[in-house]
Amino acid sequence: MRFGVLAAVLLAAGAWWVYRSDDAIAIPELTENGQAGARLFASNCALCHGTHATGTDRGPPLVHEIYEPDHHPDAAFYRAVNQGVASHHWSFGNMPPVPGVSHRSVTKIVAYVRELQRANGIR
Ligand code: HEC
Repeated sequence: MRFGVLAAVLLAAGAWWVYRSDDAIAIPELTENGQAGARLFASNCALCHGTHATGTDRGPPLVHEIYEPDHHPDAAFYRAVNQGVASHHWSFGNMPPVPGVSHRSVTKIVAYVRELQRANGIR
């Protein structure tokens, strides 16, 4: 009997975790630039990278150690948007260039991603 209760609790916890882990990252209070970046990210990048940059089945999470500033400085973002990215870290395929996103817009997108990263211990 006890065991049954325990199993039920574990099952519920497991289901909660699966449900949550989709977006189980800390969302910080965003600066003004970060908020503008979040909007630009939602309309240009989220299809593949997810609303909170946690990844989808089309693209990787950017809130990930691989993309910490030392490994992928801001220049990598401008390059990715302008020239696309040949698949090298993951197996989602290539990232195509994203036309129509200005340099200033990428600056805001970078602010958003860096704020998410910092809030999740990636710096
Ligand atoms: C059509 C899907 C798609 C869209 C839209 C997309 N990306 Fe990507 N992106 C990818 C994939 C896939 C990779 C991973 C390539 C690899 O390393 O295997 C990637 C990688 C990256 C990288 C890492 C670059 C590097 O040097 O390794 C950055 C930064 C990035 N994307 C930023 C963005 C931003 C910013 C936007 C929106 C303006 C965006 N992406 C839109 C699919 C996408």
